[in-house]
Amino acid sequence: MAVIRTRRPWDLPAQDVTPESLYLSRRDWLRWAGFGGLGAVSLLAGCDNSVMAQATTAPAPPETPRRLKDLYPARRNEAYQVDRAITAENLATTYNNFYEFDSSSKLTPARLVEKWPIHPWEVEITGLVGKPLKIEAEALTRRLGVEERVYRFRCVEAWAMTVPWIGFEMRKLIELVEPLGSAKFVRFVSFLDPAHAPGQTNRYFKWPYYEALRMDEAMNPLAMFVTGMYGKPLPKQNGAPLRGIVPWKYGYKSAKSIVRIEFSETRPPTFWNDAAPAEYSFLSNVEPNVPHPRWSQATERILGQEGRVPTRLYNGYAAQVAGLYGG
Ligand code: MTE
Repeated sequence: MAVIRTRRPWDLPAQDVTPESLYLSRRDWLRWAGFGGLGAVSLLAGCDNSVMAQATTAPAPPETPRRLKDLYPARRNEAYQVDRAITAENLATTYNNFYEFDSSSKLTPARLVEKWPIHPWEVEITGLVGKPLKIEAEALTRRLGVEERVYRFRCVEAWAMTVPWIGFEMRKLIELVEPLGSAKFVRFVSFLDPAHAPGQTNRYFKWPYYEALRMDEAMNPLAMFVTGMYGKPLPKQNGAPLRGIVPWKYGYKSAKSIVRIEFSETRPPTFWNDAAPAEYSFLSNVEPNVPHPRWSQATERILGQEGRVPTRLYNGYAAQVAGLYGG
């Protein structure tokens, strides 16, 4: 097999990567090889310090527009404590993974979203529910109310941050639409707008982005739909106007800029699991003892800090979620 030097979109720098034959299934390999002409669209650059330095010096996101002053800032729910410092706002809002805009750099999504219109934004809640709903995102947010919670966030790439998110529990929305007894999974579908999102012309991926949870996971009080961060509405690059946050799972489980939420009986396919099934599972819980096929998950790098710290089981939320997985 010829050696293909082009990186797949989520690859680590060469020095960190195991030989391809050790981790690629034949099907993955053929797909990858077929896209050898894509160019270097790398994702997993880890936490490059120079990239982080550029992110921290970026301007902070805009202030809250007047029409949203009733929602932001929101009262913090002190029941959710984290033993880590909150990540600098301009780092969390400019060091992004948002493949719809750019899979090759964490710094560019914040700039590329500038002209992307996100208001009004309709969200459809459909599938196995008694009360399907189509509602504008800000109207939905007002209907369910918001609170602030500081959570740890862990990307599968082994970087981590601590963020004051603003939003509402997923279970509030689930209860609103009255799922049928047969609903076992919830699927989240992101927007499709290649005219504004240049990454959606990358044919390696199946757009729009799609993720899913089991119903019992989505009903856990930790699981949130997020509409703001750092006391303000969510910046577009962080998934405005509505994204998931599932703090005990790797970050890719939290779909950004959601337009559809679907309830189903069977397990829906998910974006990264479809792209590389050997590397990204459906569950994708943060588990230090389960290495990614190409790197260890035992430690992580906190954005804005030197060195590495141990990864915690379920990202530090074992007390709240271990029961979902048999203890
Ligand atoms: N959702 C969509 N629609 N598109 C994406 O590229 N990236 C995922 C997740 N949700 C992604 C997404 C990944 S890999 C991570 S780590 C987080 O968003 C990053 O969120 P952040 O940019 O707010 O830190």
